[in-house]
Amino acid sequence: NQYTTEIEAFAPANADELEAFRIKFLGTKGIIKDLFEQFKNTTPEEKRTLGKVLNQFKQLAESKYQTLKEHFESAVSNQKADIDLTLPGEGFAVGSRHPLSLVRNEIIDIFKRLGFVVAEGPEIEDDWHNFSALNFPPEHPARDMQDTFFVSHPAKEGEDEASNIALRTHTSSVQVRMMESGKPPFRAIMPGRVYRNEAISARAHCFFHQVEGLYIDENVSFADLKQTLYHFVQELYGEGTQVRFRPSYFPFTEPSAEMDISCTICKGAGCNMCKYTGWVEILGCGMVDPNVLTNCGIDADKYTGFAFGMGIERITNLKYVIRDLRLFSENDVRFLKQFKTDI
Ligand code: PHE
Repeated sequence: NQYTTEIEAFAPANADELEAFRIKFLGTKGIIKDLFEQFKNTTPEEKRTLGKVLNQFKQLAESKYQTLKEHFESAVSNQKADIDLTLPGEGFAVGSRHPLSLVRNEIIDIFKRLGFVVAEGPEIEDDWHNFSALNFPPEHPARDMQDTFFVSHPAKEGEDEASNIALRTHTSSVQVRMMESGKPPFRAIMPGRVYRNEAISARAHCFFHQVEGLYIDENVSFADLKQTLYHFVQELYGEGTQVRFRPSYFPFTEPSAEMDISCTICKGAGCNMCKYTGWVEILGCGMVDPNVLTNCGIDADKYTGFAFGMGIERITNLKYVIRDLRLFSENDVRFLKQFKTDI
């Protein structure tokens, strides 16, 4: 009959059309259901012939539906598997290293090649490791050179006041820890964060990062100090960078010096980075004071050594021409993403 032809010719374009077909013929209010209802009211005579026809018709509709359903289902899964591998991928954002980390790693690499190992220590220190062992006597004005953040804590038994715990003002404290807990020779650098109570401006911050170095052995001389730091500067800022040493004072070194390099930005022509002098100070250094060696249990008659300390921010400013320290801790992505590198 007409329905048989309709079913046989049925070619849906999509699964929705197939679903409409199912509802029309096979649904609970569909044509087939309806025909079977009518079938109940026929005579037994009619039933014999009609029954067969009706069942065939029902089977036709069902098998048509089943094949088409499978067809659409496999089409969907084919579509999923049908990935075009030549399409460009969806890019994902890769971060960049912080400039201070880049420069710290570069400094570490240079000293590692000279045989220095990396040592670390706590940022909250006691007075002994940050000051006393380093030859800062109590009440010595040199303690004021480093505006210290003290950490309040309950006084221990026998203590008058609980003022001997502070945020370390330099990583020299790690040198003390190293000397106390080992035997010479020592050849190490100490990278780390340090804290000083300063008003925050373009040129000062309440925290910054240092790399300090220590070399202790028999017969270490000031010439070794100069050569090591000279080599370091050539590696970091390029061959031909000039250095000069100026006498200075630190309680823990004697003699002490500050080292300047020829301005990496104007190459000596004069700019505001070097205040038109052609030179910029990058570190403090000196021969470890024998008192410090003795304090740390090292035989000061047998051993000598040098130490130096630099601020990573200053080194970075000179490398990348950054004029405001605050940029390092503001997390401004426009600043940070300029330092994309493979490292
Ligand atoms: N600890 C000194 C500072 O923080 C730097 C320094 C280290 C100087 C070692 C000399 C020797 O200023």
